[in-house]
Amino acid sequence: MAERFESVDAVLEALRRVDYLADPSTAGVVFLADRLEKPVLVEGPAGVGKTELAKAIATTTGSRLIRLQCYEGLDESKALYEWNYKKQLLRIQADREHERDWETVESDIFSEAFLLTRPLLEAIRADEPVVLLIDEVDRVEIETEALLLEVLSDFQVSVPELGTITAVRRPIVVLTSNNTRELSEALKRRCLFLHLDYPDAEREQEIVRVRVPGIDATLADQIARIVRSIRQLDLKKAPSISETRAGQQGAEGRRGVMNTQSSFDLRKSEHEV
Ligand SMILES: Nc1ncnc2c1ncn2[C@@H]1O[C@H](COP(=O)(O)OP(=O)(O)O)[C@@H](O)[C@H]1O
Ligand SMILES: [Mg+2]
Repeated sequence: MAERFESVDAVLEALRRVDYLADPSTAGVVFLADRLEKPVLVEGPAGVGKTELAKAIATTTGSRLIRLQCYEGLDESKALYEWNYKKQLLRIQADREHERDWETVESDIFSEAFLLTRPLLEAIRADEPVVLLIDEVDRVEIETEALLLEVLSDFQVSVPELGTITAVRRPIVVLTSNNTRELSEALKRRCLFLHLDYPDAEREQEIVRVRVPGIDATLADQIARIVRSIRQLDLKKAPSISETRAGQQGAEGRRGVMNTQSSFDLRKSEHEV
């Protein structure tokens, strides 16, 4: 299949064109994911650009982004597929007069027309280029991770009534995790691993400059420094890159100020700030 990127530098440039400033190791992992056709597991604290990386890859490669947002209680019917029961019932009722044998009815109602595809199956069946984002995978229970394994290792989904559906064109798969719990070995084994952390001062300034067009360079520098110093404090949640940007907009008297609720929710007493 056609490779999407020629080299690691090409990844860096392609991401930069869509305003995502990656470091060489991020670009390296994206390059390998494309060449080896392996999913990438991106792990790191909130707000360091994990979700944005998947979006940027989709935009820069002209792919459709299909997102599976994970949450506690996510199940097969929301992740893979589900039968359209209402439509099946209507069909059975409509068919009553015809007195067709059950086998005919069954093969009819368990066919494509009655299938509701959810993100994983949708990504596997798409004929256009796709980036599949499985966001915040650490939020599902460890047992639910098993739902993902077939997709991640073989790029296929088994629907008992229809057989195995295999990807025509393998999507780029990005999984993100905020590391709230340890993921299963089975899942980790199937992925390339990328740890994202807060960027160094220079790159953070650059991100702010890219994301807040027309920003004064000195101001960008000051805000990036302030946020860095806040991150040193013993906070319940460290300020993310988007909050550096918000700080910028606040400082410029534009919309958005620091997210006071989450960023400054101190574990220690308030006067220590
Ligand atoms: N490397 C980066 N280049 C450009 N913007 C970035 C980068 N990293 C983070 N951002 C900014 O930070 C915001 C939050 O990132 P996001 O991907 O939502 O974080 P999370 O890691 O929690 O998924 C993004 O919308 C983007 O504006
Ligand atoms: Mg995210």
